[in-house]
Amino acid sequence: MAQSKTLNVNGAPVTIRFDDPDMPLLYALRNDLALHGPRFGCGLGQCGACTVHVDGRAVRSCIVGVSSVSEDQKIVTLEGLGTPDRPHPVQKAFIDAQAAQCGYCINGMIMESAAYLAAHRTPSEAEIRRALANNLCRCGTHARIIDAVKRAATSI
Ligand code: FES
Ligand code: FES
Repeated sequence: MAQSKTLNVNGAPVTIRFDDPDMPLLYALRNDLALHGPRFGCGLGQCGACTVHVDGRAVRSCIVGVSSVSEDQKIVTLEGLGTPDRPHPVQKAFIDAQAAQCGYCINGMIMESAAYLAAHRTPSEAEIRRALANNLCRCGTHARIIDAVKRAATSI
C-alpha cells in the first residue's frame, strides 16, 4: 500500500510516496525529487556514486531505506551543497582541478570529501587517499581527484 512521508532535503521539507518501506533513499531522491546528483552505480553500497549527507555524515543512499530516515534528519545532496554562483569549496576545487572525466563517480567523490574535510581540516595526502579508498572511479582520474581535495582542504 502506498505510504507518504516528509523528508528534509537540501533545507526544505518534501513529501515522498512509496510502496516499499525498504525502497532506497536514492530512488526517492532521483525519481521523486529529480535530484540527479547522486548516481546509481552498483546499488550495493560498494562504489560510492550515490553518496549523500545525512546529518553531515556521508551515506550511501542506495542501501538506506526511506523508512529508516526520519523527518528531522537533514539530507543534503550534491545540489544542496553549493550553488552555481556559490559552489562549496570542494565543488570549486573539483572544477578548478578539472577532476572529472565521464563524471559518474564525481558526486560520490565530492560528497565523501566534503564530509571528510568538515571533520578533518588538515589531512595529509595519505589520509585523503584512505578517506576515498572505497569510492571507485573507472576512468582513473584519481590523481586529479586527490589534487582537488588537497586544494579544497586549504580553502575550507
Ligand atoms: S550505487 Fe550506492 S554505493 Fe554504488
Ligand atoms: S570520472 Fe569517470 S568514473 Fe570517475
